[in-house]
Amino acid sequence: MPLYPDDLVEEVRSANDIVDVVSGYVKLQKRGSVYFGLCPFHSEKTPSFSVTPARQMFYCYGCGVGGSVLTFLMKYENFSFVEAMESLAQRAGISLPRQEYSPQMKQEADEKQRLFQVNREAGRYYYTLLRSSEGRQAFDYFKNRGLTEESMRNFGLGYSDKFGDRLYRYLKQKGYEDGLLRESGLFSYRERDGAHDRFWNRAMFPIMDVHSKVIGFGGRVMGDGEPKYLNSPETKIFDKSRNLYGLHIARTTKRPQLILCEGYMDVIALHQAGFDNAVASLGTSLTGGHAGLLKRYTKEVYLSYDSDGAGVKAALRAIPILKDAGLTVKVISMQPYKDPDEFIKALGSEEYQRRMDQAENSFLFEIRILKQSYDLGDPEGKTAFYNEVARKLLGFAEELERNNYIEAVAAEYQIGFEQLRKLVISAAARGSALPKKTQSPSSNRGQKKKEDGIKQPEKLLLTWLAEDVRMFSVISRYITPEDFSEGICQKTAEALFGQYKSEGEINPAKIVSSFENEEEQREAASLFHAQIGALTKADMEKALKETVIRVKAGSINSRLARLDPADMAGLQQLISDKRQLEQLEKLHISIE
Ligand code: UTP
Ligand code: MN
Repeated sequence: MPLYPDDLVEEVRSANDIVDVVSGYVKLQKRGSVYFGLCPFHSEKTPSFSVTPARQMFYCYGCGVGGSVLTFLMKYENFSFVEAMESLAQRAGISLPRQEYSPQMKQEADEKQRLFQVNREAGRYYYTLLRSSEGRQAFDYFKNRGLTEESMRNFGLGYSDKFGDRLYRYLKQKGYEDGLLRESGLFSYRERDGAHDRFWNRAMFPIMDVHSKVIGFGGRVMGDGEPKYLNSPETKIFDKSRNLYGLHIARTTKRPQLILCEGYMDVIALHQAGFDNAVASLGTSLTGGHAGLLKRYTKEVYLSYDSDGAGVKAALRAIPILKDAGLTVKVISMQPYKDPDEFIKALGSEEYQRRMDQAENSFLFEIRILKQSYDLGDPEGKTAFYNEVARKLLGFAEELERNNYIEAVAAEYQIGFEQLRKLVISAAARGSALPKKTQSPSSNRGQKKKEDGIKQPEKLLLTWLAEDVRMFSVISRYITPEDFSEGICQKTAEALFGQYKSEGEINPAKIVSSFENEEEQREAASLFHAQIGALTKADMEKALKETVIRVKAGSINSRLARLDPADMAGLQQLISDKRQLEQLEKLHISIE
């Protein structure tokens, strides 16, 4: 639901020249038609942050952030979309209408308010119960795990009793209606005998959003039992991939970094030991949403995952996600203990602080783990290992940074600096260059590659379309917005084709700022910034043809995969598209 009409967003955006605005924050230097400066969103020594006046966009070739002048303020100042609009409107002397809510929006907002209320009531209920005679066992459980009463209070810990529907009856009697209670996720409804409390004889951990509002719960069995932790399901106010346990406290820490761990108990134990910067994802694996959230509060994340195989695997998964968000990552070792909770209990906070000081650079961590899957005693295994390391080193686009890593790896792994550097160069020559992203050797790599494999040609097409008006008439002969993958790519393509048709030219910054969410803006901006080397006209035509074919083939395949077997018309269409694709392969595409 858009908060402001498109025209108004565009008026505000275009009244604020991006070079003027960004210059207030970053020292820019003009090179040709583009300005460059040191990126304010990651640390670097040579400028890869660009501002293009013609497109009114910024983009960092180092860390991949980009967008319009609105995106810039959202990122730099931690502004919401509305705050960025307000700031820029004021700067340009444009007055914004008071926010008017439609009846649906009002109803949704009301419903969320009511859900917050229900969760707060439930939290209070569990909290009180923990401190009553019925909660004795749970109280002792927390005590035995080493928690002080202050920690229990700070985290609002509670207890859910042994009766199957007491919370339900309590909330009903307070006047909350069934529809709402059902939405809250706190109850299960059975056809036979109605509503039951979801949490039952469990030690309760309320989950708070950054504004300290209760949005859900985790409940732990006391002692052994399955499942160990039961969590609230996602609801209108509980999005597991956009909230982190403990962040409502950690966000105000004075420490310069945030510690990311796995469990509720880890977070509480760390806070109790003085590490008020610890957070955990909520019984789900880390997502880009979590990384974006962390990035709002810090530049550096220390991973404090379990020391077992699962914890290492989770760390390898998390590292590229965090790095992609522009965060610096280090890994803390909990050896020989299982997790931060046990570590602190055994060795105390000073020792934990020492582990933090010794935390391992995430790249070196990845290499160390990578090494374990090669037999370095065997010449072949050794060669393969060094080649893989060289390939990963290519992920550092900046030469100085790359050389520093080559140096660090060479020192650690019995290979000369020059020798390793040569391997990196030949890896580059083989074309195994990884643009910016350092990839983890974990199992998600195949999947990620596949994704990029589809998106990269789409990105190229969008970049070409934004670069040169003449390209539209060529490309649109073969490609429609529906050929782009669903989501941001397709929305962006639709907007771009729409602008060409209605205005005869395109305005990428307008498209980018039509996305209200910062992550989406960034993704949309990156679509216009595929790296294209300088090409001759003949090469260009060849590249264009290949790209058109790849996008078209990708589109046919994904439609085929989704095709309803009964949809004869759809099948006909696909067959005819496929035939057209075959024709296309014989064709010469000319960009005159
Ligand atoms: P762990 O099993 O490592 O939990 O799972 P823990 O925090 O060390 O548990 P304690 O110390 O035995 O109490 C890590 C996290 O994964 C989620 C929870 O958020 C937990 O804190 N989890 C785990 C679940 O959501 N469900 C489960 O069944 C297990
Ligand atoms: Mn534990």
